[in-house]
Amino acid sequence: MAETATLDLKPATLAKIESLFPKYPDKRSLTLPLCHLVQEDLGYLSDEAIEWIAAKLELEPIQVLQVVSFYPMYRREPIGKVHVKVCRTLSCALVGAYKTCEKLEQALDCKRGHTSADGNYTIEFVECIAKCGMGPLVQVDDKLYENCKPEELDGLIDAIKTAASEGPESADHPKPQPGTPAYEG
Ligand code: FES
Repeated sequence: MAETATLDLKPATLAKIESLFPKYPDKRSLTLPLCHLVQEDLGYLSDEAIEWIAAKLELEPIQVLQVVSFYPMYRREPIGKVHVKVCRTLSCALVGAYKTCEKLEQALDCKRGHTSADGNYTIEFVECIAKCGMGPLVQVDDKLYENCKPEELDGLIDAIKTAASEGPESADHPKPQPGTPAYEG
């Protein structure tokens, strides 16, 4: 199958992808690694990305889409300005992580697993962040917040909203966007 779609991937990503092919005689086995690399570069897996991966692996796009829809770590929407991850593993779940996540969803008008309509927030459940005694744990971009009890979230919500209003170039949230010189560098 010919490669029909083009993707604006960084040269380093393309090099990593090409370096994997000799290690996997069965191209289909590269589906997960390629999805990871493309998502890491672009932030999410668009229709074009799925078509591109499928063409690379000589698969039909539906075969890649089935994999992407099965695994929760793959995103089908652009990531928000602020990325909120709520640990849902046992220790955090036992002290209210699910309720915490629901409250954040309400306060930020964003369903978990999605990006808010204004593009400000992405909320996701994640597995253990390795600070199990301090739960519920919430990670906002690169910053960890401990003891995020559902009834005590005002400070965290303010911090998340401030991060969104400061934008991706703020000191606390250096998140270069695809297509910018910082991202390319
Ligand atoms: S269970 Fe949440 S940090 Fe380990």
